[in-house]
Amino acid sequence: MKVLSVVGARPQFVKLAPIAHEATTRGVEHVIVHTGQHYDPMLSDVFFRDLQIPDPDVHLGVGSGSHGVQTGAMLAALDGVLEAQQPDWVLVYGDTNSTLAAALSAVKLHVPVAHLEAGLRSFNRAMPEEINRVMADHAADLLLAPTEIAMGHLADEGLAGRSALVGDVMTDVLLQVRDAVAGRPPALLAELGLEQGAFSLATIHRAENTDDDDRLAAVLDSLAMVDHPVVLLTHPRLVAKAEESGLTLEHGNLRARSPLAYPDLVAAAQASRGIITDSGGLQKEAFLLGVPCTTVRPETEWVETVELGWNVLVEPGEALVAAASRSRPIATHATPYGDGHAATRVIDSLSN
Ligand code: UD1
Repeated sequence: MKVLSVVGARPQFVKLAPIAHEATTRGVEHVIVHTGQHYDPMLSDVFFRDLQIPDPDVHLGVGSGSHGVQTGAMLAALDGVLEAQQPDWVLVYGDTNSTLAAALSAVKLHVPVAHLEAGLRSFNRAMPEEINRVMADHAADLLLAPTEIAMGHLADEGLAGRSALVGDVMTDVLLQVRDAVAGRPPALLAELGLEQGAFSLATIHRAENTDDDDRLAAVLDSLAMVDHPVVLLTHPRLVAKAEESGLTLEHGNLRARSPLAYPDLVAAAQASRGIITDSGGLQKEAFLLGVPCTTVRPETEWVETVELGWNVLVEPGEALVAAASRSRPIATHATPYGDGHAATRVIDSLSN
């Protein structure tokens, strides 16, 4: 069996890691195509290095652009790659423009396509990610869902016959990296003079939060008003938008720092008092690490984190400040994201 994975953005490299390892272990031929959507070394190369992912076989070098330009350039480049490679499966990951381009390219060429992390829904059609994931699900031949709730969404859309529950591959990676960094004090503490359990870690990058000046100013002001230090890990989109709007990333209790490599992020998250984010993956990582999460969005795809009491959805302003300062919830033993062996089931599903 020959599987061709298409990835392009930071969270996709994390999802790729356990699939690449499982493919190697089981002797599955695996071709990695990097679209080039994320090209900064800290958003791309360090993930391949730290998670021991083989270098991409093909790099499309697409880079930044408007949604149409970026997605279109990927589509144009992928046609030739799929025709040359003739894989048994194209595997697409998550909800980025790279996901949509690869799913469309494969389905048009009649190459079987599987969507990993299928069935997630925010039901917010203003989000580019929601459009990407819905389109990818409906284009794909095999839908690999992380949770029961995701399976339910697929069934509601008439896609149950093509769906399989495999668990969450990000959980596979997180549990391994958590164990690997255990006992190592995170470098961030010494670097920023922080005390264990006395700071929050924040990431903000979604278009809904960064692309409107007033909204972005409100988010940054709220982070600065939290009653303990908040370390904001700066995504390039955030830096660019803050510069355009003349906003500072450091005031009050807010400190800014460039993005962390994945093992450093896991260690820092575990040492933090809480996470404040609009990322999808980090909400779930906080849950799995037993760290309270405050999500700066009106809805989440990872609803289990909210239902189990570890995640709170807030608007910027008083609600954000109050939520970020709340005390820890009661621990849960629920494991809605699988057992850390999702990648095995993904390769099983592709082999059957
Ligand atoms: C993309 C995904 C989002 C995912 C996120 C993870 C889409 C529609 N969005 O958002 O779902 O959560 O990745 O980070 O696919 N830039 C750089 N260097 C880079 C990459 C981007 O400077 O290596 C800049 C671009 O020039 C652009 C901005 O960051 O100005 C946004 O990049 P883009 O890849 O379009 O989307 P993300 O915001 O990263």
